[in-house]
Amino acid sequence: MIVIGSDHGGLNLKTALNSYLTRRGYEVTDAGTNSDASVDYPDFGQKVAEAVIAGQAELGILICGTGIGMSIAANKIPGIRAALVTDVFMARMAREHNNANILVLGGRVLDEQKACDLVGAWLDASFEGGRHQNRLDKITSLEQKYNN
Ligand code: RB5
Repeated sequence: MIVIGSDHGGLNLKTALNSYLTRRGYEVTDAGTNSDASVDYPDFGQKVAEAVIAGQAELGILICGTGIGMSIAANKIPGIRAALVTDVFMARMAREHNNANILVLGGRVLDEQKACDLVGAWLDASFEGGRHQNRLDKITSLEQKYNN
């Protein structure tokens, strides 16, 4: 299961990615928004991040205008590793090295084809573990230090 959410700035790309993921055989939960009315991206970042942390979805995708606000918001939730990417190399590394459980995209930055390429590269990659797990463990320690 993949949970996907956006604000108004990411709505068109969310619709396109929803179709792409369904065509690829993934089950998708759409956390909104579902109109072009102006909304606040942290609300949708929270919904998607909480669904991933609760195990309702293995992975999440978030889209706002630039992707910046969504990545800042989602990364506030302990256990979330949200990666804002703009090219295929970054998308692949987000999984192989960072084990990103949320991919973040900019709806006003990417065209539909590029966005599908980035999502595909992220989904097709695998976490390499080893020294990268040690680094993620250090991030978890930072969360524990500052979230009390
Ligand atoms: C909304 O206008 C815009 O600020 C939002 O989509 C996003 O780009 C924030 O980072």
